[in-house]
Amino acid sequence: MSGFSTIIYEKRDSIAYVTLNRPQFLNAYNIQMRDDLYQVLGAIRDDSEVRVAILKGAGEKAFCAGADLSEFLTAPSPIQARQVRWERDVWGVFLNIPQPLIAALHGYVLGSGTEMALCCDIRIASEDTRFGLPEVGLGIIPAAGGTQTLPRVVGQGKALEMLLANLWISGEEACRVGLVNKVVPRDELLQTAEAIAKQIAYCAPTAVRAAKQAVLRGLDLTLEEGLDMEKKIASKVVLATGQGS
Ligand code: COA
Repeated sequence: MSGFSTIIYEKRDSIAYVTLNRPQFLNAYNIQMRDDLYQVLGAIRDDSEVRVAILKGAGEKAFCAGADLSEFLTAPSPIQARQVRWERDVWGVFLNIPQPLIAALHGYVLGSGTEMALCCDIRIASEDTRFGLPEVGLGIIPAAGGTQTLPRVVGQGKALEMLLANLWISGEEACRVGLVNKVVPRDELLQTAEAIAKQIAYCAPTAVRAAKQAVLRGLDLTLEEGLDMEKKIASKVVLATGQGS
């Protein structure tokens, strides 16, 4: 797959790499990026060769500085700009990809940048990372899942502080509150994400996908319902792989 103007898609061995590629605009998320991501994420979802994907940003300064403000300002209104973005459910595709997604984050991770990171399963940040959700300052609220995914990851109090006060946090603080799994020097970011990706790729793909599904689905269930769901998924894995535990 190639020929995208806002992202670079690569596949090496069983690892897919998606690079947001508008570095001159700090990889701001525009409508073209929406369409490119929609296509690439769908292709990853349907590609059984891909066992894990890494999402990263091109350039030195940012993973993604949020929605493209020039589109917001040229649209008849921010509401209409939003409406256009919702024509394709990129976030729904993101959240339903069966393979694990790893976000390799650096520099500015703002607005939909933070929301994209939250759609990933494992987040690694470099020391220069700054996370924020500036939407309320612009008179809107996050609508790529951020109001739902952030509190599930960092808890209600920290999420509300970030969302209501537009409080930006460092990679180190993001690690402390559980927003990222690990903080590493900038020049070790990709290799750290790749090392985890390789570990995942080495494991049984059916079991990896099932474990991801069990964890994510279980978050919205009671413990009893979750245990029941886990039993069902575990049985399917046994049937698929012929393995017991
Ligand atoms: N949409 C469109 N363009 C953006 C952008 C965005 N969200 N964020 C940055 N850019 C562009 C800038 O306009 C600038 O382009 P130019 O060189 O043609 O003027 C380029 O990216 C570099 O950004 P710049 O502002 O010069 O970098 P900086 O280091 O001084 O500041 C930020 C970085 C992230 C603090 C600042 O760019 C910013 O506040 N961006 C908007 C963040 C935001 O509110 N996002 C929306 C969330 S809903």
